[in-house]
Amino acid sequence: MAAPFTVLIMAAGQGTRMRSDVPKVLHRVAGKALVDWAVDAARAAGAERVVAVVRPGDGVAEGLPDGVEAAEQREGEGTGAAVLAARDAVLAEGGEGAPVVVLSGDHPLITAEQLEGLLAEHRERGAVATLLTTDRLDPAGYGRVVRDSSGAVDRIFETKHTEGLTPEELAVREINLGTYAFDAKTLFEALDRVELVKDERYLTGVFPLIRQNGGTIAAHITGDADAALGVNDRAGLMAAEEAAQRRLIEEHARSGVTFLAPGTTRVEAGVTIGRDTVIGPGTVLEGTTTIGEGCELGPHTTARDATVQDGATVIQSVVDGADVGPGVRVGPFAYLRPGTTVREGAKVGTFVEVKNSDIGAGAKVPHLSYIGDTDVGDGSNLGASTITANYDGRRKHRTKLGKSVKTGVHTSLIAPLHVGDRAYTGAGSTITGDVPEGALGIAREKQKNIEGYADRVEEDSQK
Ligand code: UD1
Ligand code: CA
Repeated sequence: MAAPFTVLIMAAGQGTRMRSDVPKVLHRVAGKALVDWAVDAARAAGAERVVAVVRPGDGVAEGLPDGVEAAEQREGEGTGAAVLAARDAVLAEGGEGAPVVVLSGDHPLITAEQLEGLLAEHRERGAVATLLTTDRLDPAGYGRVVRDSSGAVDRIFETKHTEGLTPEELAVREINLGTYAFDAKTLFEALDRVELVKDERYLTGVFPLIRQNGGTIAAHITGDADAALGVNDRAGLMAAEEAAQRRLIEEHARSGVTFLAPGTTRVEAGVTIGRDTVIGPGTVLEGTTTIGEGCELGPHTTARDATVQDGATVIQSVVDGADVGPGVRVGPFAYLRPGTTVREGAKVGTFVEVKNSDIGAGAKVPHLSYIGDTDVGDGSNLGASTITANYDGRRKHRTKLGKSVKTGVHTSLIAPLHVGDRAYTGAGSTITGDVPEGALGIAREKQKNIEGYADRVEEDSQK
């Protein structure tokens, strides 16, 4: 068991470069807010406490995962001001004696392994401060690391603005990733003494002060460029999304999922997929979607907050907040909407929309239907173009079909309505009243034939 440590996440930056009304750390990578990625990495590394620095009223505190403490940055600008805002929270509960790990809320792909490596280096070197660095990224805009002749870290200089920097300085490739381990007490003492640069207090300003006091500053170098990526603008957000996709899809693949065209597939962070499932090209899995084992999804299926159980097939379809049972076949071109359950072995076919309905085991809705607010009993078969009229312009009503019901093609079912077990409806019927068990409900004009019609048309045209 490693010694306890506190994690402080700086998440109160203005994020100007995002050009957005949404705080930067609430932008999402693989469907998960940037700040939540940092929280998850902190917890996976074993953090005892996680404190996030937020701006009063920016909405970030409200969305934080349970158990994360928020500290408000009420005054001052810059990363140094952010850390100072969390002083009381960090030093409370004996935090003074434990190291504090400082994370930037805009480095979503930081891994628990990197944090563990950082802390191990910090302890082994007996350092006062240890920073995570890499030389594997384009260094433009990042703080660069200057080492002395012994290889120890001397200082960091910023390159957000490049005026006044020499070509030699700009050639430095080792960058500061904004992830640090500090001795907590020394950190806050030094921060009080950091001088403002253009009204900003830089966290990196503590390093020269620590050096002056004879403290060791260590660096932990990472070669994992994906995990090191920082998000300052939308280009950075795209780069992080791509890296997150590579990582997530690779993890699923390692646990037994086949991706036929991984570069065209998008899988969000909250998705689970069972083994031997095959994901076809253009497939998008979002939110809390759970896919079982041995399923086939795609090509071009979108599932959002959906459940797809073992052995189901979903081709070229959209499943939104619906539950697809074991062995069910969906699509191509079906749309399953929230509140829908399709039970074991059922089929929802081509150009079919189902909303807030329960499709029983083994039932079939094969072609061109709208089924809304409806219960379809086990083994029923709805003819092509069966449509439920669930809305009378003011209220929605429910349609109930029993077991083994067979509707003819072009049946309109005007709710509220109950069709008993084993009942039939005639093709082209507009059913407005209940149909008893085992009966045939038929509601359409009787056919009449007009004899000799074609001859009369021809005669008329010759006049
Ligand atoms: C910072 C580092 C830079 C490093 C880079 C890594 C400083 C001065 N520079 O630069 O050396 O290479 O991160 O990505 O620290 N934040 C606050 N309150 C503020 C300002 C920022 O909470 O007042 C938060 C932001 O939300 C963000 C993090 O601190 O999560 C970093 O801020 P940002 O402005 O992006 O710093 P960089 O210019 O990228
Ligand atoms: Ca940044």
